[in-house]
Amino acid sequence: MIRLRVWANVRPMGWFGHAASDYFFEYDPQWIEQPGGFVLAPQFPLRTERFVGAAVRTFFENLLPEGEALDDIVSAIHLRGASSFEVLGRLGAELPGVLSLLSEAERPDSQQEYRNLALTELSRRLADRAQVPLLVSNVNATMSLAGAQDKIGLRFDKKSKRLSDSVGHSPTTHILKPDTRQRRYQPSAINEYACMKLARALKLPVPDVWLLRVPEASYVVERYDRESIAGNIVGLHQIDGCQLLGHGPGWKYQRMGGLVSIPKLVDALRTLRVGGRDLLQLQRWVMFNYLIGNADAHAKNLSVLIDERGFQLAPFYDLLCVRAYGDTGLALFIGDEETFDTVGAHSWEALSKDCGFNASQLLVEFRRVAVALLPAWDKLLTSLSKKRGVTEAELQLLARMTEIFKKHCANAVSMTER
Ligand SMILES: Nc1ncnc2c1ncn2[C@@H]1O[C@H](COP(=O)(O)OP(=O)(O)OP(=O)(O)O)[C@@H](O)[C@H]1O
Ligand SMILES: [Mg+2]
Repeated sequence: MIRLRVWANVRPMGWFGHAASDYFFEYDPQWIEQPGGFVLAPQFPLRTERFVGAAVRTFFENLLPEGEALDDIVSAIHLRGASSFEVLGRLGAELPGVLSLLSEAERPDSQQEYRNLALTELSRRLADRAQVPLLVSNVNATMSLAGAQDKIGLRFDKKSKRLSDSVGHSPTTHILKPDTRQRRYQPSAINEYACMKLARALKLPVPDVWLLRVPEASYVVERYDRESIAGNIVGLHQIDGCQLLGHGPGWKYQRMGGLVSIPKLVDALRTLRVGGRDLLQLQRWVMFNYLIGNADAHAKNLSVLIDERGFQLAPFYDLLCVRAYGDTGLALFIGDEETFDTVGAHSWEALSKDCGFNASQLLVEFRRVAVALLPAWDKLLTSLSKKRGVTEAELQLLARMTEIFKKHCANAVSMTER
């Protein structure tokens, strides 16, 4: 048997291991007995039993980067062909949410330590990221984050705008994402920054964001899964939509066999008794993603926060106008529709029916958001266009985004006409 200790901040939560040809997860008895414990995921109720099988493997796989991003990392840390267990053993000191995975001999650090990260050093790491993936470029810490894009966790001081690396097991407070290396989706940092700002202007729940010029354009977002308590950073537990539904990261798009969908997510959230407010926010997430042309609003781009009191929809993240790069499909369908251009009133009605939402209320809200979006965007666009360092390619992207927003908002207004 081999096993890693699962920590929730400085409390032992349980064990993730491999025995008798299968993965297992089990809670530490104290985690169950003492107050303040919560579930790893709904599939693992707080019981002293050994959970085994695909549910365990997929839960932990969801904590790793995906696709080429993962391949590049395993190759850079010389673990080609390794199991996700082995990779998590190497990267697991800081994971999405509250979790960290440490060997039996290790314990979380009692002191948190950070080291100044000069922009020149970050710039060098950005230039080298084809050789050394950004996520593993801080040699003093190990961490994992999900997703296909390059990113790194760090600390950011909003007043001084200084960045710091974490040292050892110290939790990061922000995520930095540079422009993608995939040509087709460039530039991306300004897109995500602008869409998150637009969401904020429309009062959607989103964390604070910044656009740095390192000089390379880099998007920085505050981690909503971190809290500062008496000067110490503590993690909050979160799971994404794939973990919520018990599927691996490879199933995050509905077109891949329909294992994930908006009605399935809603159903799972209802089972967990999330508040009515959260279900309304989820509807707004779908509406906003439609209006901005986010073709990549898949099941790993929506998360749930978990604590001893229960479950809550997490703030929104990874909001981009992906249609501006030519993608016209929907990651999660609206009704039966798989593309932006085939969505009509009938799609929202079908979605409402499948989710148990009141269709006429949903359409009224959809219209309200669609009407509010363009004036908010106009204001934002003016300030974005004047920002220091904005490039011609970014201005062209913003212009394409504007056209898409106009088209999608006009469609929304006409499909909600009474
Ligand atoms: N602000 C945040 N606070 C806490 N966790 C976050 C935040 N933003 C993202 N995450 C976590 O990190 C993961 C990856 O982030 P994100 O979705 O932005 O990456 P990505 O690589 O662009 O994803 P994709 O593969 O969808 O393109 C998310 O699934 C979520 O679990
Ligand atoms: Mg994502």
